Amino acid sequence: MESPSVLCVRLSLKQRYFLLLCFAVGAVVVYRFTRSRSEVRRSWHVVGLRANSSQFTLETKPFRILGGSIHYFRVPRAYWLDRLQKMKACGLNTVTTYVPWNLHEPERGVFNFEDQLDLEAYLRLAASLGLWVILRPGPYICAEWDLGGLPSWLLRDKNMRLRTTYPGFTAAVNSFFNQLIKKVVPHQYSRGGPVIAFQVENEYGSYARDKDYMHFIKEALLSRGITELLLTSDNKEGLKLGGVKGALQTINFQKLNPDDIKHLDAIQPQKPKMVMEYWSGWFDLWGNLHHVYAAEDMVPVVTEILKQDMSINLYMFHGGTNFGFMNGAFAVGLPAPKPMVTSYDYDAPLSEAGDYTTKYHLLRNLFSSYHTQPLPEPPSLLEKSAHQPVVIHRHLSLWDTLHFTDKPLKSERPVNMENLPVNNKNGQSYGYTLYETIIASGGALNSRDSIRDRALVFVDRHFVGVLDYKIQELALPDGKGKRTLSLLVENCGRVNYGKTLDEQRKGLVGDIELNQQVLRDFIIHSLDMKPGFVNRLVNSAHWMSVHQRPSFPGFFQAKLYLSSSPKDTFIKLPGWNKGVVFINGKNLGRYWSIGPQQTLYVPGPWLHRGDNQVIVFEEQEADGKIQFTVTPDYGMTVDVE
Ligand code: GLA
Repeated sequence: MESPSVLCVRLSLKQRYFLLLCFAVGAVVVYRFTRSRSEVRRSWHVVGLRANSSQFTLETKPFRILGGSIHYFRVPRAYWLDRLQKMKACGLNTVTTYVPWNLHEPERGVFNFEDQLDLEAYLRLAASLGLWVILRPGPYICAEWDLGGLPSWLLRDKNMRLRTTYPGFTAAVNSFFNQLIKKVVPHQYSRGGPVIAFQVENEYGSYARDKDYMHFIKEALLSRGITELLLTSDNKEGLKLGGVKGALQTINFQKLNPDDIKHLDAIQPQKPKMVMEYWSGWFDLWGNLHHVYAAEDMVPVVTEILKQDMSINLYMFHGGTNFGFMNGAFAVGLPAPKPMVTSYDYDAPLSEAGDYTTKYHLLRNLFSSYHTQPLPEPPSLLEKSAHQPVVIHRHLSLWDTLHFTDKPLKSERPVNMENLPVNNKNGQSYGYTLYETIIASGGALNSRDSIRDRALVFVDRHFVGVLDYKIQELALPDGKGKRTLSLLVENCGRVNYGKTLDEQRKGLVGDIELNQQVLRDFIIHSLDMKPGFVNRLVNSAHWMSVHQRPSFPGFFQAKLYLSSSPKDTFIKLPGWNKGVVFINGKNLGRYWSIGPQQTLYVPGPWLHRGDNQVIVFEEQEADGKIQFTVTPDYGMTVDVE
């Protein structure tokens, strides 16, 4: 019998070509009929987002990105769908989100992509609504987020150089990207998913410490299977140094300045122009006013951007909340950093609680003219409840909770929080740290600028005063014998933008002095107030009834009873001074009477029918009750400059 190969040799050249053609056509037919629509995208003839001329193309057709940012980590998971549907109904076609490394890798090598951090579920949800996604995986994200999203354990290395090719940093990025990128690769456009582009780093042009760094990040994405369009994003000044070969440069601004666009065009001619961050509002700092950006000022700018054929991403479309201790701080041009408030309402088109604003309605009207089909109806509003005030029924002194913390550290010298031997040697990331030592006299306590960021000072647990960046000296009262000096130091949030990222260690970062003698021999308690700690508190035997005088700082407990299914609400705390609110173990964030923010958002899905446990940690002054309102109060307003 002749073998097939011999048969083949006997065929003429024409016959061979014919056979080959039949085979190829057959293969395509089989492929088309056996693959799902999304799988077909993997074939060679379907192309994703491209930037080959002055207009984007998607699937080879002209495409304009009408984008908006919603950060999945700032919105309760139960509301992801609601917010994305509202985005779709506003006429946007693309959702953009950062990825917060600090939440996904809370301890080195320990990863979390579950529940509130289930990025894949978020991508699937966007896809199910027909929204495209631009992913901004950082690793640095800025975003008014603690340390711009970098995990604080990186700062355990005293030589750390964040956002550079310092080996200690690149190794950590590689290890995180090994986990993150394999999760997002299957959600790329070419694999049938919604992700049409990836941003390389974030505004690196404003940092630009290391000329090799952007290349490293780009390769870190490419080598792990990222195949979609790459972008960078910078403000006008940053454009010069922020780009990397092979990535499209985009620009960030709030007011449209024709020179900025010319500048972008000059450095990158014949490419699509995109405003990656069109700031729809602005963030707020404690002690300042609440920023607003009038819809009547904003909408004409968006109109003009679209008229000029540019693509746009509204930063933010919906800001959400800096729950927990996740807020960043701002320091550029200030004598000392100022922390960001808990709300990230941002004066965005959708409010913190997902309500429509004037901006939303005007934008919907504008975007509708860029669609051939009518836009879907906006989903109906979620109801809110203004509950009756709840009464504090017991309180617990902070001093009676110290045995619930990790084992305290005895140390001759002060140790900054990141270098404490807690959390499996990852240090303490957020919250408060208590430093105690024995003193034998009163006198002048000088912080030598070692306090990050703010300390309540006590002698024998009696409050003496506050030390911070401004107040660096306190008079300690005289007294007999040995007494305990306590400094409860709060990390108010790490700076997220600017050149001081490497200096964001918190707690006591150096020596402090009493009468010009440095203090030694500390006992250090880490009070990061994680859910385990808050849950342990509830079983303490030291809770006291309301009839006894409360001691500060302390925990104050109340019950919110709900007889029907829970709705959103806002907490307000007139008569309280400064602290943190926990509901059913969830950290809602910080409040501070100095404002501007006066209410804390309580998402309905975090409550349940029956008794809900409310615990307030208050530093200095409490009222006997907690109040609720349906109307947020972000404080006195000022127009964004
Ligand atoms: C920059 C950053 C964002 C955010 C905005 C201000 O553009 O890229 O992450 O910090 O500023 O809200």
